[in-house]
Amino acid sequence: MIEVVNLSKKFKRTTAVDQVNFYIEPGEIVGLLGPNGAGKSTTIAMLSTLISPSEGDIFLDQKSIIKNPSELRNILGVVPQEIALYEELTAKENLQFFGSIQKMPKTLLSKRIETVLEQIGLQDEPKKLVKHYSGGMKRRLNIGVALLHEPKYLIMDEPTVGIDPQSRNHILETVKALNEQSNMAILYTSHYMEEVEFLCNRIYIMDKGRIIASGRKEEIKSVLSSENTVHVKLEKHSKGFINDLITQPTLSNVIAKEAEVTFSVAKGSNFLPMLLSLCEKNNIILTSFQVEEPTLEDVFLHLTGRALRN
Ligand SMILES: Nc1ncnc2c1ncn2[C@@H]1O[C@H](COP(=O)(O)OP(=O)(O)OP(=O)(O)O)[C@@H](O)[C@H]1O
Ligand SMILES: [Mg+2]
Repeated sequence: MIEVVNLSKKFKRTTAVDQVNFYIEPGEIVGLLGPNGAGKSTTIAMLSTLISPSEGDIFLDQKSIIKNPSELRNILGVVPQEIALYEELTAKENLQFFGSIQKMPKTLLSKRIETVLEQIGLQDEPKKLVKHYSGGMKRRLNIGVALLHEPKYLIMDEPTVGIDPQSRNHILETVKALNEQSNMAILYTSHYMEEVEFLCNRIYIMDKGRIIASGRKEEIKSVLSSENTVHVKLEKHSKGFINDLITQPTLSNVIAKEAEVTFSVAKGSNFLPMLLSLCEKNNIILTSFQVEEPTLEDVFLHLTGRALRN
């Protein structure tokens, strides 16, 4: 088990990570969800022993790794947020290079390269140079590099940013397969709550350097068990209508994006007559209307007053 205890990182003026505690048990997929600047990458940089904490410690099976990082490095694979590959090499050559700097024995390395290429679905592109890869293929190879030494724990820092939906699905399926078939424990970092909801059982929500909520999906959402979220689409944007919604005492978290509005309302409350009368008053036509159970996005909004993505 990997445990992070009171971990903090201060840069000159910024406290990027502030007294963070979490753990990853063997074989589980844990989500670390947070908006830009929450401190996710800084936490990962400490976990992967690239930077040292200002305070706190990291334990591997109850042994502190601050003084002895090599044991953790052997069992940890880290997929960095920034793609780190050689553009002028093929996938295989990249894997060969990264394996050899880790001093992996030759025969083991060639075996692992074949397995990894299959795991990331790049076995059919043997001659293509990375510079001719799509963004999604590069992301997949970036994951492959971290898998070479068969880590027990895989730390992934926003592995699906900036790629097409098909590659994204491929990566999500790869993560599931690594966990189910190889029993790899995974810390999955993202600001996409749908990904975290899909993959993870236990979730930490991070904001401004702190963990602001943690637990199983259902536990986190139970914070909002008394609320529903309502999504309304309008024929056109109306400032007056939005202002009227904001001043309604029975509604909260009113967020408007052009002709779409979202708000929270107590479960079972009969808000429809009020909504319709505000539409009539502001001369607005509702084009659609949906009541939903809360999502992790709603929990984040509830806890911070801000949307996870702006
Ligand atoms: N080397 C550094 N020096 C100074 N400040 C830093 C440094 N690295 C990170 N920060 C600051 O620490 C905070 C957390 O940054 P971090 O990159 O950990 O966030 P993040 O959650 O990974 O965000 P993103 O989703 O954008 O990748 C930010 O305010 C950032 O500007
Ligand atoms: Mg980051």
